[in-house]
Amino acid sequence: MRIGFFDSGIGGMTVLHQALRVLPNEDFIFYADTLHVPYGEKSKEEVREYIFNAVDFMANQGIKALVIACNTATSIAVDDLRKKYEFPILGIEPAVKPAVQSCQGTRKKVLVLATNLTLKEEKFHNLVNRLDQHDIVDSLALPGLVQFAENFEFREEKVVPYLKEKLSSYDLEQYRTIVLGCTHFPYFEDSIKKLFSHEVDIISGSMGTAKNLKRILEATNQINEGTGDILFFKSGYKVEDKDTLSNYKKLLVKLDELLLMSTKS
Ligand code: DGL
Repeated sequence: MRIGFFDSGIGGMTVLHQALRVLPNEDFIFYADTLHVPYGEKSKEEVREYIFNAVDFMANQGIKALVIACNTATSIAVDDLRKKYEFPILGIEPAVKPAVQSCQGTRKKVLVLATNLTLKEEKFHNLVNRLDQHDIVDSLALPGLVQFAENFEFREEKVVPYLKEKLSSYDLEQYRTIVLGCTHFPYFEDSIKKLFSHEVDIISGSMGTAKNLKRILEATNQINEGTGDILFFKSGYKVEDKDTLSNYKKLLVKLDELLLMSTKS
């Protein structure tokens, strides 16, 4: 059986990309709810309904595990989804814990970038209250990056001015670690780095989620001998159009390139 990956859009591919690295012999279903993206700008109630409809659809396709590859959807629905479905469900949340640890003894701070809805949610406030004992965690919503990604607009000349404007009131010198708390944001890692005149660590929860997935499949004896095949779905229909499929494949190549760059630097 396949593993399901779900996001409001193409952000979830940044998590799928990591899963392909640790689980190259699995097959996947990737579901993007592109009719309803962005989730981060909608009400919790509305988004909940979209999430349950999408997961019902994926469950009917037959999946052995589900990754909610969306911080926003995780914060709103992961607990209730786990009550409804039998298969293991993994979520993703802003990687605040390693970020805070990375700043210990440095007098530097953490900046969490996410969607408006993630930052408003109780789950995020509880996470920060639990971990941020020295008041070093700041946050900022960047809905424009979700839009850029959905339009396949990754050019720095478009993205950097937007980021500069959003961060204009922040003293960037004080940050050591940037948390990408939205799965759409890793596409812009190079643009984000450009804003800082010093070295910053940029972290996301996607590798942690991929490793957890592997651990759970191993523990439940569900490892496959597949080929890394991916079926793509968009809000309830299978993507068969060659251009869209080729764009999705290009995104995985782009993520390979970004990974190569970050391991070199
Ligand atoms: N990719 C999603 C996340 O990680 C949400 C983007 C959106 O739909 O606003 O939060």
